[in-house]
Amino acid sequence: MAAASTSGVEIYDGAIDRGLEGVVACSTGISSIVDTTLCYRGYTIEDLAAKASFEQVVYLLWNDRLPTTDELASFKKELGANMALDANFINVLKTIPTKNVHPMAWLRTATSLLAHYDSEAQDMSPEAQKRKAVRLTAKMTTLVTSFDRIRNGREIIAPKADKSVAYNFFWTLTGTEPDAEIVKDFDTCLILHADHELNCSAFAARVTASSLSDMHSAIVSAISALKGPLHGGANEQVIKMLQTIGSIENCKTWIVRALDNKEKVMGIGHRVYKNGDPRAKILRAMSERLTKKKGEAHWYTMSTMIDDIMQEKKGLLPNVDFYSATVYYSMGIPTDLFTPIFAASRVSGWLSHILEQWQNNRIYRPRGKWVGKNGLKLS
Ligand code: COA
Repeated sequence: MAAASTSGVEIYDGAIDRGLEGVVACSTGISSIVDTTLCYRGYTIEDLAAKASFEQVVYLLWNDRLPTTDELASFKKELGANMALDANFINVLKTIPTKNVHPMAWLRTATSLLAHYDSEAQDMSPEAQKRKAVRLTAKMTTLVTSFDRIRNGREIIAPKADKSVAYNFFWTLTGTEPDAEIVKDFDTCLILHADHELNCSAFAARVTASSLSDMHSAIVSAISALKGPLHGGANEQVIKMLQTIGSIENCKTWIVRALDNKEKVMGIGHRVYKNGDPRAKILRAMSERLTKKKGEAHWYTMSTMIDDIMQEKKGLLPNVDFYSATVYYSMGIPTDLFTPIFAASRVSGWLSHILEQWQNNRIYRPRGKWVGKNGLKLS
């Protein structure tokens, strides 16, 4: 776009796409969204959720193909061997304040700190990048649960190297053997959250990676972006909203008042999906089953009421964060860990994006349209 000149200042005068809506910023082969179909590397999310494990999906995202049985076994072994946190690192983790600190803020700091304990942090060779990707993915879940242990004055629990990421989430959180059905459902949740094309946090990771900064820095950028309530932070806000509404009877009045006040209803709406988020459909069924199992089906009923009202009044549909909130709640997970769980899964997608960015890198450097003053001079 041609630049206009005013008082010698070059001014970009092209169209602005607020929020970069409709802007295609890079080519990608990781995940695709076409209407209501989400695919990872060509496989639909429904197929993966029904038949794959999170570890298979991570392998798929990173290698552009599913692993063979032997490859999966050795990949799981590699992840398992890297889940534990170094003793010196744990000692430093214990010094990070937790009081009145949001777990996502803690996770951002802890991930940044993790780089200082990684001897390959500045090694940009493809081999080192792959090893770091394994370490970051394996440790992210342990970091999330360690936060909860530390803030409650409990000892950090060592992960079981021969168990899955999903199993170890509950094991390292509680120190008790998790229910196999819950582990299976949680594994599905991890799959559903693993990647999502050029979402805000993946883009943040790619922007940082595009300056050829290091992998940990790019992941810290992504965690920072995911933290916000318009992105990953929405799942925590959904359960808070349900708890504030409190009852089925209050639902309609509360939502109508929120809309009259131009408030956003969390977990609803999406920049890309206008006809429905396929992940929400899977999570809705899981939410119905798990809230019933917990004996608190009213949370699901309230959610479906809000879902209906939002469709009727605004034509907006639930996104991934809406029903995942009642799913995680039913699993007994502390509310403020909902978004960190998102990070523990999405780290695999962020890493795919970082690696893809480096395969065909060009620094991200858009323009801003100048709307400030011109021609000022010091007297
Ligand atoms: N509740 C109420 N109104 C909503 C809404 C929501 N959750 N989401 C969008 N809208 C309305 C906006 O107020 C706006 O209305 P207007 O044109 O009358 O001003 C219109 O729909 C477009 O919204 P906008 O925020 O411009 O859409 P976007 O594409 O920029 O944002 C989201 C997409 C996801 C950020 C947005 O839908 C949202 O904030 N949702 C709630 C947060 C959330 O769940 N985030 C997780 C995303 S996976």
